Amino acid sequence: MIIPYYKSADRNFTLLHGDCIELLHSFEFKFDMIFADPPYHLSNGGISIQSGRITCVDKGIWDRSNGYEDDYSFDKEWLSACRDKLKENGTIWVSGTYHNIFSIARCLTELGYKILNCITWVKTNPPPNLSCRYFTHSAEYILWARKSAHTTHYYNYELMKKINGGKQMRDVWTLPAIARWEKSCGKHPTQKPLSVLSRIIQASTERNAWILDPFTGSSTTGIAANMLGRRFLGIDKELDFLKISQARKEEILAPARQQEMFEKLQKQAQLFSDSDQTMTVMSDVSETYGFELPF
Ligand SMILES: C[S@@+](CC[C@H](N)C(=O)[O-])C[C@H]1O[C@@H](n2cnc3c(N)ncnc32)[C@H](O)[C@@H]1O
Repeated sequence: MIIPYYKSADRNFTLLHGDCIELLHSFEFKFDMIFADPPYHLSNGGISIQSGRITCVDKGIWDRSNGYEDDYSFDKEWLSACRDKLKENGTIWVSGTYHNIFSIARCLTELGYKILNCITWVKTNPPPNLSCRYFTHSAEYILWARKSAHTTHYYNYELMKKINGGKQMRDVWTLPAIARWEKSCGKHPTQKPLSVLSRIIQASTERNAWILDPFTGSSTTGIAANMLGRRFLGIDKELDFLKISQARKEEILAPARQQEMFEKLQKQAQLFSDSDQTMTVMSDVSETYGFELPF
């Protein structure tokens, strides 16, 4: 029997501790959307600049590469487990850089997913390139795929157009890298900005939807999901990161703090239309979205 590491009092935010591949195989439940920010396998002793200082880019043992073939097999295994957990009309988003994104695209296609878009997230404040022998790395890529070529998927076209000033939303998103106020509950080395996750969730889910993040880290996905009235399950094998996730969820249980964060996000990235700003999850859960997780 699975015992969650944490389940919030409002039951909209659950965390599991352990290996996502093993855990995903051990319960039955289908999600409307999955966001995965997997290891990019980049922690090999390189250097970068952070706040004007030279720092090692290593993120942790979890991010080490075991060689191309092993990394590819790992990606294929977790993507397969995720496909099994997606509703027929569900979609998956996977982030990466050029180091891993092509391997991810290959796995998605081999597993029967249909790739819908490759979003380029252009960072407004990237760190400089120290070697001066390459262009500055200033983008990440986010693949969006549905379960198969034959299913349909949800896309909130009208809202995307509205927040893009009345023009069709493009696949190049210029959004800032993580802001200091987003780290109020502790530091995760690869925390994603709430602005990126909010746009992803708004584009591909409706209120009350169930969202899974198999590499949850500090649970940016879950925080954005709950702020937007969606429900969330996150998995991570590092306890320290689950502690940050729990603290972040408890932070937004205070309505005043959540409102403050909404305002900061809106100023930063013009993410919401007025009707989108109601934060409470409705309690009459429809059959479409399923009732509860089995743990
Ligand atoms: C790139 S980080 C995700 C960061 C997250 N998007 C955030 O905003 O904080 C990847 C996370 O996956 C976790 N991880 C790595 N391998 C895992 C596995 N096999 N199962 C579960 N979690 C894993 C790591 O501990 C790390 O926190």
